[in-house]
Order: sequence, then C-alpha cells, then structure tokens
Amino acid sequence: MEKLRIGIAGLGRLGQRHAENLAHRVPNAQLVAACSPVEQELEWARKTLGVAHCYAEYAALLAHPGLDAVFLVTPTSLHAQQIIAALQAGKHVFCEKPLSLDLEDCLKVEAEAARHPHLQVMIGFVRRFDASYRDAAYKIRAGMIGKPYLVRSQTMDLNDPGGFFVRFAASSGGIFLDCSVHDIDLARWLLDSPAPARVTATGTTVIHHGLREFGDVDNGLATLEFADGSMASFMASRTMAHGHETLTEVFGTKGRLTIGGGAQLNRVEMADHNGISHECTPDFYSRFSDAFLLEAQEFVAAALGQGKLSLKLHDATEATRVGLAMARSMRDRQAVDLL
Ligand code: NAI
Repeated sequence: MEKLRIGIAGLGRLGQRHAENLAHRVPNAQLVAACSPVEQELEWARKTLGVAHCYAEYAALLAHPGLDAVFLVTPTSLHAQQIIAALQAGKHVFCEKPLSLDLEDCLKVEAEAARHPHLQVMIGFVRRFDASYRDAAYKIRAGMIGKPYLVRSQTMDLNDPGGFFVRFAASSGGIFLDCSVHDIDLARWLLDSPAPARVTATGTTVIHHGLREFGDVDNGLATLEFADGSMASFMASRTMAHGHETLTEVFGTKGRLTIGGGAQLNRVEMADHNGISHECTPDFYSRFSDAFLLEAQEFVAAALGQGKLSLKLHDATEATRVGLAMARSMRDRQAVDLL
C-alpha cells in the first residue's frame, strides 16, 4: 500500500492526539518525523510512538529526506508562516484551526497555495467530519427542513478552575477566534456559504477575571447576518459546570435540526432518587475523537491522490474574517460591516 510520509510539528495537548492517530489509526499514513522545541515532547514521540526522526527546528523537519506532508498542531501565531514554508518545500499541509489571527496572513497563505495547485492544504475544522453534523448537512441539502435560514450554535467548555486558557489569551485571539471560529465555519457550511454581511458581539467575564487584561471574556455572544438574509447566532463559554457542550440548531422553513443536544457522553441513562440523568462529554476531544480521525484520513487520501478535500482553504479565511469582526465589535461596542 502506498503510504504518505508525514512529519508532525507540535506535540502539545492536541498534537499528541493527532500523532497517535497518524501512527496507529490511519492505514495509509506513516508518521516518520516529529518536531517540537520541547525535548520531553520529542522523547514522548520516540518512546510512545517509535518516531525515529525528531527535530527541535521546524526547518530541519521540512528538510527530512522523503517527507511528503506536514501536520501542524502548533500555536496559532505560527500557522501561516509554517504553512507557507511547507508549501515552498513541496509538502502537503494539514494545519489546525484557526488558519491565522491576521487576515493578511490568511490571504498570503491562499496566494502561496495557489502557486502549488498539486499540493493539498487543509485547515482542520473538525466538526465537518463529525457523523451527526454530516447527517444534518445531508438532511439540509436534501431539502428535509425546507430552506434553512438560521443557525444557532454554541461551544461551551467545562470550567477549568486553573484557567489554562488565560495563560494563552494573549496568543489565542480571544474567545471568538479560538472557540466560535468552529461555529462560524459550521454556520457557513450548513447555510451553503452565503456572504457574511454584518456582525455584532458582546461578552462578559464571570469567573476568569485575568482575561480582562487581554481584552478577552469567558462568555461571549455574537450575531452574524448574511447577505442573502440568513442569520446565525453564537455563544461561547469557558465556565460551564457540567462539561463540554457543542450544540447547534438549524432552523428551516419546514423544520429544525438539533445537533449535540444534551451532550451525552454515551447512551447510558441513570434513574434514581434524583431523577433521570446521564454523564456529559468532559472536553472537546471526547466529543469529536472520531471526527479527528476521519479528517486525518480524508487529508491523507487527498494527498495520495485518492480523494478530494471537502473544505476549501478560503473557508478558513472567512472564519478568521468573521471572528476578527466579532472581536472588534465586542471591543468597540458597535456592529461591524463585512460587505
Ligand atoms: P499546545 O500549547 O498544547 O501545543 C503547542 C505545541 O506546539 C507544543 O508541543 C509546543 O512545544 C509546539 N511548538 C511551539 N513552537 C513550535 C515551533 N516553532 N515548531 C514546532 N512546534 C512548536 O497547544 P494545543 O492546545 O495543542 O493547540 C495547538 C493548535 O491546535 C492551536 O492552533 C489550537 O487552536 C488548535 N486546537 C484545535 C482544536 C480543535 O477543536 N480543532 C482544539 C484544541 C486546539
């Protein structure tokens, strides 16, 4: 079987998950090299996954003989420059979301990708690979809810009392670019890519007051109007008491779809003196682990010329454009026009 030889950059919280998938669960992928400035992370890759070639420098990873593709699971601030360098080195690129926090950089990446049409570039909007979201998209395209006109979508994370994300607030781009960017992409996808027209956003800080110094919030609300009259509304939260809950509703002229309601961890329900209850997904990975695998499989197949990518690089630029507008709207306390 022909295999895609992949090098991964970034072995943090999510990078280790991607590395495990590439090493063990994507049959036509071969994880041949890894890169991180942190020696313990490289040691993990050597010991746990048997990765033979480990590099502290990204340029050395790109120079690894015979490498076909890179997986970028690095801090968002590095994505654009690392994608461009990989394309110039002749590698296919998978990169985590968001593409960049800077619109100019998104456009530079698109321009570089256009210079290398034989190379695949995919930004990992993982929810597009989730079975439930795919079923919803299928039902919408089949006309089962009539004309869809409103998406209401929310990403809500279990409160982390240690405030892990506060330390990254300066580089994450804030709650809309870090969290709502997924919901923005979903809304565009489920509504068939109408042009974003106008954004309003606001937010509040109820637990993690350290976010204030970065102009960030731990609960955000936003609305997005599209040029064709359809709409979306978003909520993002870092302070849920019950778990991770990604919930999306799509309203159409003949029906409504709800995806992810209840945030069940599994199909077990308990009935006792407290009533009826179920456990909840604790974090994004427990909710989307199958989808992370499927997106890796799609990327590898496309890079081997055995399939097509189901999302475009420009989708990622649009998600950043809308996310930036939300951050600006919240900061300036006024609507932002996007047309
Ligand atoms: P993290 O901070 O845990 O890991 C970042 C990794 O990058 C670390 O291994 C670090 O050593 C490495 N790194 C730093 N500088 C580097 C360089 N110059 N070259 C190579 N490696 C370098 O961050 P986390 O949470 O894993 O996030 C990484 C990316 O994944 C972010 O862009 C984030 O937005 C995205 N993400 C996406 C999610 C999704 O649902 N699709 C969920 C969580 C994160």
